[in-house]
Amino acid sequence: MKIMSTKSFSFTHAITRQPSFSVVSGLRSTERGEPDFELMKRHHLDYVNALKQADAEVIELDPLEDFPDSVFVEDTALCLPEGAILMRPGAPSRLNEVKHMAPYLRKLYKNVHEIKGPGTIEAGDILTTEKEILIGRSNRTNLEGISEITAILEQWNYKVTEVLTPPDILHFKTDCSLLDSNTILSTERLAATGCFDSYKVILTYPGEEEAANTIRYNNLVLAPEGFPKTTRRLLESGFNVVEIGNTECAKIDGGMSCLSLRFTPKK
Ligand code: GLY
Repeated sequence: MKIMSTKSFSFTHAITRQPSFSVVSGLRSTERGEPDFELMKRHHLDYVNALKQADAEVIELDPLEDFPDSVFVEDTALCLPEGAILMRPGAPSRLNEVKHMAPYLRKLYKNVHEIKGPGTIEAGDILTTEKEILIGRSNRTNLEGISEITAILEQWNYKVTEVLTPPDILHFKTDCSLLDSNTILSTERLAATGCFDSYKVILTYPGEEEAANTIRYNNLVLAPEGFPKTTRRLLESGFNVVEIGNTECAKIDGGMSCLSLRFTPKK
């Protein structure tokens, strides 16, 4: 597949963080059993290797035992060509994860903004496409948080579209992901809200809603293993798919996008 040069899925770098032993106590919406730490570590290694296969320079951070959910680095920042924006997570136990990410982004970016509050926002609720930035209001991302980030994004000339994360879904991107400059992978329930009406949409196969959270990094789509019918749809549409085990992160509501920050630094 031709690699298009676009800001929404062409990158040079990624940041990941090793799971901490405390990850087994990560936040979860429903109890699906304790994550198997060793298996999660193996899946995490496969994930990092897939990013490298897609030409990412991966900055692998050490585990943070005080923060069970800190493996899900995506929620701490939004990284764009113009600069990075440090988030203000809505989960109290995750608020201070941002302090542990900030020094790395300040080294890589000249321009680093921060959401000061009182609103909250997690980047799992933010989908960047070529023409707009969609932000889903959720239990973690509220109107004040959206309004504070919108002021920064509008200075950078982005069009911000506020949308709603479906009820009982952790983050907006739990249910969707960008596949190319005009194609979105989405669950049927999210697409039905009309938020992707101006895009080409590939739906997850019924019963495989958990497959919606993938990442496009350069020429590869990293997708969770175990959803063969949705993977087949992606392959038939011409995408290069690498499947990564996600059973253990899924027990604490994590997926492909949560596990990395993806960007091209700008000093
Ligand atoms: N367990 C991931 C989160 O709740 O943010």
